[in-house]
Amino acid sequence: MPDKKIQKVTIPYLQAKKDRNEKIVAITAYDFPVAKIMDASGIDLILVGDSLGMVVLGYENTIPVSMEEMIHHTKPVARAAKRALVVGDMPYFSFHLSDEESVYNASLFLREAGAHAVKIEGASKRRLKLIETLIEAEIPVMGHVGLTPQSIHHFGQFKVKGKEVDEAEKIIQDALNLEKAGVFSVILECIPLELAKLITEKLKVPTIGIGAGPHCDGQILVFHDLVGFSNGYLPKFVKKYADIHALISRAVHDYIDDVKEGKFPDDNRSYHLKSQQTQKLIKKETRAPEGKKKK
Ligand code: KIV
Repeated sequence: MPDKKIQKVTIPYLQAKKDRNEKIVAITAYDFPVAKIMDASGIDLILVGDSLGMVVLGYENTIPVSMEEMIHHTKPVARAAKRALVVGDMPYFSFHLSDEESVYNASLFLREAGAHAVKIEGASKRRLKLIETLIEAEIPVMGHVGLTPQSIHHFGQFKVKGKEVDEAEKIIQDALNLEKAGVFSVILECIPLELAKLITEKLKVPTIGIGAGPHCDGQILVFHDLVGFSNGYLPKFVKKYADIHALISRAVHDYIDDVKEGKFPDDNRSYHLKSQQTQKLIKKETRAPEGKKKK
């Protein structure tokens, strides 16, 4: 049976959602099986975030994540997504040298990995110019303001941005500049909800919030936080919808106990020879070796 026609999520579709006042639901993913479940569940946008470095690859922050790692993980997500829009996150130093190199790197997300767009953190003058260049090269761009984790060494620590009026005004201006440069959406990370509401009202393009309150046009969470992969610290804004850490931990403990106690594998999980074949085999294998006569 051919698949029922799938209504693919496109950039105009996301814009129409904002215009109709319908929420956009986004999430991060880094592999095929999880992205497949998300896509089938009706997620609008899957971001292959450079949070990959922290939640999958075990880095301390997102700085060491390479283009190769991002492309490697974007490919299976794009293969799994039949409906959702897939966005590849440009890692640190993939867009900081020449425009030429940045456009080339961004194009790899579309040409090699199968993503539909890229995301870039920040809104400096140079970054805005680069975003215009990327859009000119037919590469749709998602912006990202507020807490931008690639600037960790500037900030010193991950904390809420825009709590003071000056900083809040700068974030508003950054978001407006990104829209002017042509982004199709802006991520607002870790800012007060009042500020996110203001930005959402000012921008024509959709805002997607993470730790930015309920008034954004959409929400995004890191998948590993949402399902409780880690039993360590989680930011205040995360809602844990499952406790995968406990589930996996229990399953592995039970497996260890079963193997040690000889309960796994049991008869039902083993393959059998027919009894006739067993007799034959035993007879053959226990026969005295050729040429050795019994005394
Ligand atoms: O890398 C990431 O997962 C992100 C989200 C937190 C928006 O940038």
